Amino acid sequence: MFVKLIPQIVMNKINYLSKRFEQLLTMILPGQPLYDLCCDHGLLGLAALDRGLVPAVSLIDRSPSVIATLKERCQIYLEPDSRRMIMCMNGSDLQPVSGPATIVIAGVGGQTIVDILEGIYCDRPLEQRLLLGPHRGEAKLLDWLSEQGWEIQQRKLVIEKGRERSLLQVGV
Ligand SMILES: C[S@@+](CC[C@H](N)C(=O)[O-])C[C@H]1O[C@@H](n2cnc3c(N)ncnc32)[C@H](O)[C@@H]1O
Repeated sequence: MFVKLIPQIVMNKINYLSKRFEQLLTMILPGQPLYDLCCDHGLLGLAALDRGLVPAVSLIDRSPSVIATLKERCQIYLEPDSRRMIMCMNGSDLQPVSGPATIVIAGVGGQTIVDILEGIYCDRPLEQRLLLGPHRGEAKLLDWLSEQGWEIQQRKLVIEKGRERSLLQVGV
């Protein structure tokens, strides 16, 4: 009984996402690969794949224990899926992504987002969409984005656990 319940709980987590994640899913480039660079539990990318919104997801986190847990959960509870890549690395070490894609960096500070973007990009990619969810340090992030010539295409506010969270859709 207990063993049967666990996969259901995992699927429920994918099906019943937080408002913040539901909002992010409406902002992705549909039909294009999704990179979640601070993925933690990986729920955003797993839900995007499960709902057929994206053809492939790369789930990236710098914490070895986070990635070990995520890989184990996927192996136990989900079907093998070549469209799902799970990698342990610092987001700033990601090789520049080519072609259209959505890059998500959410749930971390604005300075971490800046560090990751400075690591990945020399030029601003025309075809890519950034979805940024700074949990703090938004003002400095906005200044940096503007200095670099990024355009804030959309800003949404959601309340999560009593806190207002900002979600930025950024492009060129
Ligand atoms: C609070 S969780 C955010 C999870 C999810 N993205 C969200 O929005 O709820 C922050 C995660 O970011 C990861 N992280 C922080 N800095 C990172 C970096 N430079 N590169 C990759 N992962 C990073 C941490 O290991 C942690 O798992």
